[in-house]
Amino acid sequence: MKSIELNISDAIGFVGEEKFKGYEAEAVKGISNLNNGEGAGNDFHGWVKLPEEVEKSGIIDEIQATADKLNSLVDYVVCVGIGGSYLGAKAVIEGLSNSFEAYRKTSKGATVLFAGQNLSEDYIAELQEFLKDKKFGIIVISKSGTTTEPAVAFRLLKDQLEAQVGKEAAKDIIVAVTDAKKGALRTLATQEGYKTFVIPDNVGGRFSVLTPVGLLPIAVAGKDIRSLVAGAAKMQEETHHAGGSNASETYAMLRNALYNDGKVIEVLVNYNPKLHFFGEWWKQLYGESEGKDGKGIFPASVDLTTDLHSMGQLLQQGKRNIFETVISVNQPDRQAVIPSDALNLDGLNFLAGQHVDHINKMAELGTKIAHVEGGVPVIRIEIDRLNEYYLGQLIYFFEKACGISGYILGVNPFNQPGVEAYKKNMFALLNKPGYEKESEAIKAKI
Ligand code: PA5
Repeated sequence: MKSIELNISDAIGFVGEEKFKGYEAEAVKGISNLNNGEGAGNDFHGWVKLPEEVEKSGIIDEIQATADKLNSLVDYVVCVGIGGSYLGAKAVIEGLSNSFEAYRKTSKGATVLFAGQNLSEDYIAELQEFLKDKKFGIIVISKSGTTTEPAVAFRLLKDQLEAQVGKEAAKDIIVAVTDAKKGALRTLATQEGYKTFVIPDNVGGRFSVLTPVGLLPIAVAGKDIRSLVAGAAKMQEETHHAGGSNASETYAMLRNALYNDGKVIEVLVNYNPKLHFFGEWWKQLYGESEGKDGKGIFPASVDLTTDLHSMGQLLQQGKRNIFETVISVNQPDRQAVIPSDALNLDGLNFLAGQHVDHINKMAELGTKIAHVEGGVPVIRIEIDRLNEYYLGQLIYFFEKACGISGYILGVNPFNQPGVEAYKKNMFALLNKPGYEKESEAIKAKI
């Protein structure tokens, strides 16, 4: 099968070959850091060799067996997690599912629902109401095992499940994915005897989709995790060495060149709404990895052509501080051909016999030409099909590029110290034991 194709010809002209090449030495160093476990945050480099390691280990079989067991016992699996413990699975499942999955009776796999990714009372109450007469299980995912959002949701759902099926039966349909030793979730799982999977110490949340964090929910949803990992392994191999054919290196160099030229916002564009949550996953990957020390490209995303009717004006003529990275899927899975109409009142007969995807591709091409002429550099990434293998490629391509890009930018791409600030304030406002001084200080501010 083919590899993803990166096309920079509509972007490089904005900075010029020389400036672009100016980032090569730092990119080479970044790749060497990642390959050799060196550089800032090197204790979180576990994802670099993950595809190859996952393929060699027996973990895929163990994950698949657990997913099959859950599928044989329940119709719905609620996946509880937030951030890196949520977005990868959500992105892949949405990317590979029928657009109307929620309204269909699925034949393959339980329906995967998500919780613990917000603190909305409406959301959790509506989910609980929905699950009242349903056979459901829970996958609870938290590396730290102490994150508030999933902990709140899990407490409620565990309570409900135990009330519906009994404490003993509930143990069989709850799976915990967490740290090997640390955290409240590990303690609870051991105490209750839940089936568990380990999130490796050296893999951070946003790089964890190819661990059981992502693979277990994806397998439950009936998707081919072996093919997903095989796609990632292909990219691991292709992006290992520095040089002209390393797409991750090229992308990392170019986005830094554009950033230092004033293009401080990157918009990830898709022309297939199934990729909406891939954009959300990508935003976390880049936002949390690069947004620190007063630096970082702001990652945004749009679904086109939908958002051309809301964001199109800004993209075409707004402040020229943006560049776009378009993910284009070469072939759709389904077919819809425009019929001829005797009256032709909508004037669309000139399109009769054409596939909708052809119109979509012309919209993409026309938009690219317009945006480039309007001062927006456009990077294009083409995948042949929207399937497990190519999503696996995309995931690893972006992860590797993110590591390289963070090193070029001069940050530690693998920490997230800023995420703690809101938690400290929230705990202080909620009078969490141990936060007495912070409570006093924050109350003085309001
Ligand atoms: O990328 C990250 O590290 C974060 O987004 C975490 O994944 C997120 O905060 C959830 O953390 P945890 O898995 O510890 O509950």
